[in-house]
Amino acid sequence: MADLTTHIGALQLKNPVMTASGTFGYGTEFADLVDLSQIGGIVVKGTTLHHREGNPYPRMAETASGMLNAVGLQNKGVDYFVEHIYPTICDYDTQMIVNVSGSSVEDYAATAEKIAALDKINAIEVNISCPNVKQGGMGFGTSPKMAEQVINAVRRAYHKALIVKLSPNVTDITEIARAVEAAGADSVSLINTLLGMAIDVRTRKPVLSTVTGGLSGPCIKPVALRCVWQVAKAVKVPVIGMGGIASATDAIEFLLAGASAIQIGMANFIDPTVSVKVKQGIDDYLDQNGFQSIQQIIGKLEV
Ligand SMILES: Cc1cc2nc3c(=O)[nH]c(=O)nc-3n(C[C@H](O)[C@H](O)[C@H](O)COP(=O)(O)O)c2cc1C
Repeated sequence: MADLTTHIGALQLKNPVMTASGTFGYGTEFADLVDLSQIGGIVVKGTTLHHREGNPYPRMAETASGMLNAVGLQNKGVDYFVEHIYPTICDYDTQMIVNVSGSSVEDYAATAEKIAALDKINAIEVNISCPNVKQGGMGFGTSPKMAEQVINAVRRAYHKALIVKLSPNVTDITEIARAVEAAGADSVSLINTLLGMAIDVRTRKPVLSTVTGGLSGPCIKPVALRCVWQVAKAVKVPVIGMGGIASATDAIEFLLAGASAIQIGMANFIDPTVSVKVKQGIDDYLDQNGFQSIQQIIGKLEV
């Protein structure tokens, strides 16, 4: 067995496979089906300062090789998380990472500060890339100046590992990556969903209540891989790659492109055990190719 340990700033992961925010609940929902201790990290649902209802239904639509969602960060707010959810997940034998979102710079910082007080949470992932909210969300992640402002404020409030989740809905993703690195991010994760839409020709109406939504799944993998490759060359902090990963081969492509860890999103809906299979598949690949450590393949794409 090769050494699968990888580091995201000060955060140590026992293996590079994580589950992506919004696709694996709080882990609890999957605990009967999946051995959570086999997963490197679980990024929990998007958490905001205040309770959010999310967007009206319909807010999901199937597409060719993927899906559109417009959930809109439905959650009960950070105080509820601290009081009711944290106690139930804090002893899971994996890194539990909280995905933080907000409508203003102050919201992000206040939420991060409340999470900072939780002993057993060693990292947050700051979502400046949600395409499904009216205020904030992707607005912060598509302007280098706004991204820098948010991350400056969060950095002051949060001293553990700070991951920033980037949007692909920009002309140059490396510009945003560099801005958040300069503001103190310990890592960047990418990509969040691509802005898309679907139309029902029978009703001649959009399928989603919000008209547009976020596209995820295998159809976005080539875009995600390109973004990870570009960003890994542009910043010094570790990169976490995601977008359409459904197999060990997909994951290894992201590692070769420069990702130090990967996340699995939509594929959890098809096979809840996919993350454990991907981890095993990476291990087999390393053994079969004579590598002793995952570090020997990270960023080793030969161009
Ligand atoms: C139903 C759903 C909900 C999501 N919720 C969040 C969220 O709360 N915060 C976030 O940063 N990303 C969220 N995402 C984006 C995923 O974490 C991931 O970035 C994206 O789906 C691409 O990965 P995939 O193709 O493996 O699904 C969500 C995605 C889906 C499909």
